[in-house]
Amino acid sequence: MKLTVRIWRQSGPQADGRLVSYAVDEVSPDMSFLEMLDVLNQDLIADGEEPVAFDHDCREGICGSCGVVINGQAHGPERTTSCQLHMRSFRDGDTIDVEPWRAKGFPVVKDLVVDRSALDRIVQAGGYVTAPTGSAPDAHATPVPKPDADIAFDNATCIGCGACVAACPNGSAMLFTAAKVTHLSVLPQGQPERARRVLDMVETMDDEGFGGCTNTGECVASCPKGIPFASIATLNREFRKAARSR
Ligand code: SF4
Ligand code: FES
Repeated sequence: MKLTVRIWRQSGPQADGRLVSYAVDEVSPDMSFLEMLDVLNQDLIADGEEPVAFDHDCREGICGSCGVVINGQAHGPERTTSCQLHMRSFRDGDTIDVEPWRAKGFPVVKDLVVDRSALDRIVQAGGYVTAPTGSAPDAHATPVPKPDADIAFDNATCIGCGACVAACPNGSAMLFTAAKVTHLSVLPQGQPERARRVLDMVETMDDEGFGGCTNTGECVASCPKGIPFASIATLNREFRKAARSR
């Protein structure tokens, strides 16, 4: 495949940015999107130019670091992470626009790299348990009903990629925060901090500049892990209950 890739280039947080057009040849349909960027960077380095900065780590949909906006969609046209997106999702001769996450809570560091540490600070505010977890407990020592275990597991699959924020017209981190709150609120180990957790995490979310939810659902549509809209309802319910008992 031969492609034209228009990439957001920005030398630093305060610098102006712009889309720069590059021709990328010899792209295999079986390459991942990041491997296509690797090919571009090899060409740029060979030509003595600055390679494109982009974030990545696991390249297997686990770490959440690789998110970019591809043709206006967070993580691109498939319901997956940018590293798990393959070039067979595009056609020979396509022009592809690649931009960083755009949100007040995610300032651009360089090119496609944004600072997502605001999500870490939301987790620091309450995304933990104080129940001792040092050694493996006896099986069934703490019974968890199967429906609750399923809800906890589904929400624990959030990888903190930030696509929900990038896709939301309000730059809201509600789906991310909802996944963390829901995961712990249904488990017995999460009960001691249950009320404090949701209040502190929502307060931190607001302080970090993320917007509120207006039920557009773009977050759910772009989430590579299928975190459901119902988790935001759980977050709102948990928040109201905790605020009343304050
Ligand atoms: S809720 Fe989904 S889109 Fe948002 S950070 Fe978690 S995995 Fe990414
Ligand atoms: S590089 Fe880890 S999820 Fe994409």
